[in-house]
Amino acid sequence: MLNGKEIVLIISGGIAAYKSLDLIRRLKERGARVIPVMTSGAQEFITPLAVGALSAETVFTDLFDRQAEHDVGHIRLARDHDLVLIAPATANLLAKFALGIADDLATSILLATDKPVLAAPAMNPKMWQDPATARNVETLKDRGVVFCGPASGEMAERGEAGVGRMSEPLDIAAAAAAIFRNTAQQTRDRPLAGRHVLITAGPTHEPIDPVRYIANRSSGKQGYALAQAAAEAGARVTLVAGPVSLPDPENVDVVHVESAAEMLKAVESALPADIAIMAAAVADWRVASAGAQKIKKDRNGKPPALELEENPDILSTVGHDPKLRPSVLIGFAAETQDLVANALGKLERKNADWILANDVSPATGIMGGDANTIRLVSRDGIEDWPEMGKTEVARRIITRAAEALAARS
Ligand code: CTP
Repeated sequence: MLNGKEIVLIISGGIAAYKSLDLIRRLKERGARVIPVMTSGAQEFITPLAVGALSAETVFTDLFDRQAEHDVGHIRLARDHDLVLIAPATANLLAKFALGIADDLATSILLATDKPVLAAPAMNPKMWQDPATARNVETLKDRGVVFCGPASGEMAERGEAGVGRMSEPLDIAAAAAAIFRNTAQQTRDRPLAGRHVLITAGPTHEPIDPVRYIANRSSGKQGYALAQAAAEAGARVTLVAGPVSLPDPENVDVVHVESAAEMLKAVESALPADIAIMAAAVADWRVASAGAQKIKKDRNGKPPALELEENPDILSTVGHDPKLRPSVLIGFAAETQDLVANALGKLERKNADWILANDVSPATGIMGGDANTIRLVSRDGIEDWPEMGKTEVARRIITRAAEALAARS
């Protein structure tokens, strides 16, 4: 149940350190690799030789061990493994951890780690009950540290009993396994935790003059649903949205823009991202010289000639820039004819991974409606999805994109 897991075991200075030897054995029996770190206090109770022999690993003892710093470094010790386990965790070590003091290798690892931390405290019952310790433990729990024990029973000091004994090695091994089970569950529920997803949505408005603009019928609903679904999957989400009348989705950074040029700028400053989905119906053209003043009607009834120029293609710009391109890049293709041929053309021209093609002929009611019928066009082939609500379509796209990302990284 700990198969293949790498556990950094910090042993601090208490009489319970002798139980850490059994703990190493138990963790290894369950398939874990145990990388031991001993404080100077721990070395008063058990020897690095015994710890090294049982773990069959180098024992790290000193922050300024030049060889260790050169080969591994405390940052790598803190980051490259799956769990940091403190057993025994003395009152002193917990206090330093709570305050962020990093004056030796063990405390430096604790301050630098981004991995789960499990602590098995061991101390005299009076020290455990002391308000200072209680506050430190609360602080650490708030920061996500998981505690196993202490248990109650006889103390090493003669005649003393109470809560303060280190939990039994088998219980600590079970607590470590439970942390991995929970993390695995979270990964399933929130497959995009720690990832950045960028989404464009809505139409763009291209000014003709200060009061008039060119627009299209995009409602932004599909893009907004995608942002919502990505946030629910645990991602940090940036939604760059053209003018729509939808409320900002929860837990999403929304950047509101008007024109294609503004959308491109906002996209470039939001990158890098792991996944980008360009769902915006970006206007293909803008007025070459939008007037600073309102254009007045010609008295002879002659309409003004609007000279158009092409807008930047945001999907294509991102797709062809190796520095900007996310691992998974998805575009949409709104078509009224030759759906697949057009989608394949866009896939290649814009260097996207998938094009989600939909038929937006007025009869389908997709533009502005709540349902969508998607054909997923990729280099691996074409998939037809049944008609679904835009929320369901969004969830399905996000699940598939998360799988594609996991396969690539
Ligand atoms: N797109 C973009 N920037 C543009 C135009 C389109 O990022 N200036 C993106 C859209 O967000 C969508 C994809 O490109 O993901 C395809 O958009 P679409 O309007 O269907 O394609 P166009 O390139 O405009 O092609 P056409 O006008 O020939 O249909």
